Amino acid sequence: MSGRRAGDAPLVLGIETSCDETGVGLVRGGVLLADTLASSVDEHARYGGVIPEIAARAHLEAMVPTVDRALSQAGLRHRDVDAVAVTAGPGLAGALLVGVAAAKAYALALGVPLHGVHHLAAHVAVDTLEHGPLPGPSIALLVSGGHSSLLLVPDLARGEVSPLGATVDDAAGEAYDKVARLLGMPFPGGPPIDRAARDGSPTIPFPRAKAADGTFDFSFSGLKTAVARWVEARGRAGEPVPVADVAASFQEAVVDVLTAKSVAACRAHGVDTLVIGGGVAANSRLRALAEARCEAAGITLRVPRPGLCTDNGAMVAALGSLQVEAGVPPSPLDIPASSTLPL
Ligand code: KG4
Ligand code: ZN
Repeated sequence: MSGRRAGDAPLVLGIETSCDETGVGLVRGGVLLADTLASSVDEHARYGGVIPEIAARAHLEAMVPTVDRALSQAGLRHRDVDAVAVTAGPGLAGALLVGVAAAKAYALALGVPLHGVHHLAAHVAVDTLEHGPLPGPSIALLVSGGHSSLLLVPDLARGEVSPLGATVDDAAGEAYDKVARLLGMPFPGGPPIDRAARDGSPTIPFPRAKAADGTFDFSFSGLKTAVARWVEARGRAGEPVPVADVAASFQEAVVDVLTAKSVAACRAHGVDTLVIGGGVAANSRLRALAEARCEAAGITLRVPRPGLCTDNGAMVAALGSLQVEAGVPPSPLDIPASSTLPL
């Protein structure tokens, strides 16, 4: 929580619908007042990944009840809202469209400004709700089912966020989900792999793609294939698959590259603050290794609690609140939902 005086600051309603979570947050002056979520994750589970049409329809049904729940959680009414922020992209087109249309309707009906925000910048901004203003410049590592990016963040509120690198194929969370599937674990695969890995040892030498290529890009598709080939070979040999060891070895390969590149990005840009966000930031081994490597490198590590790392409305309200307080002009009411919105 920041030291700003929350009482006088504008109340910002944040709406997030870029993937399968309908998230609504209420933030005033850096203080989180409500954070409500409706998820369609169970409806996608049997497909092993998010189905865009199912997600969009679920957002439509969940939107108004989720906003109402947020307001009642905070003990506030619609007319208390001073600004509406919404994820304008990137994400699934149909899913974004529902959130953007709803945000415009709320802004218009309440006569308050609308702020379209970038999903990745919002993942960074959510950390300010827990740890206060973000020193600029910082480096952010965002790892989820849909994205894996390293960002340089000179000034979050003013939208100064520039990409340093990203995955060239699968996102880190996507790799977790695919490897979990081939190990017979449920979707989403991150939590069961994280749990299984605790009982295993990371002794299988899976590849660390792009680890030493000097870029800030990632690649996880070869790793997933290497795990699949290794498991198949055990099957052919009639030997049981040591699931915990495979999980631990796969996980170590992912978090080794993520943390090494994050520390390298801090060093290259003379930055001493690293923020980690996105669903994979909930990973226990990523947190532990990042802590150890940051401490050794003299970098301050900031990781929001797991509930704020995954997609939610609080992150959008947090960034909207920073923008409103920094005097960033609102968005026009005809802003599009953009599945490929650049930073
Ligand atoms: O940020 P998020 O909720 O949604 C987007 O993808 O944008 O992230 C979901 C991803 C999934 O791929 C899930 O498997 C992964 O985050 N995840 C984890 C853990 N918890 C969730 N990955 C590794 N370890 C975890 N503990
Ligand atoms: Zn996300």
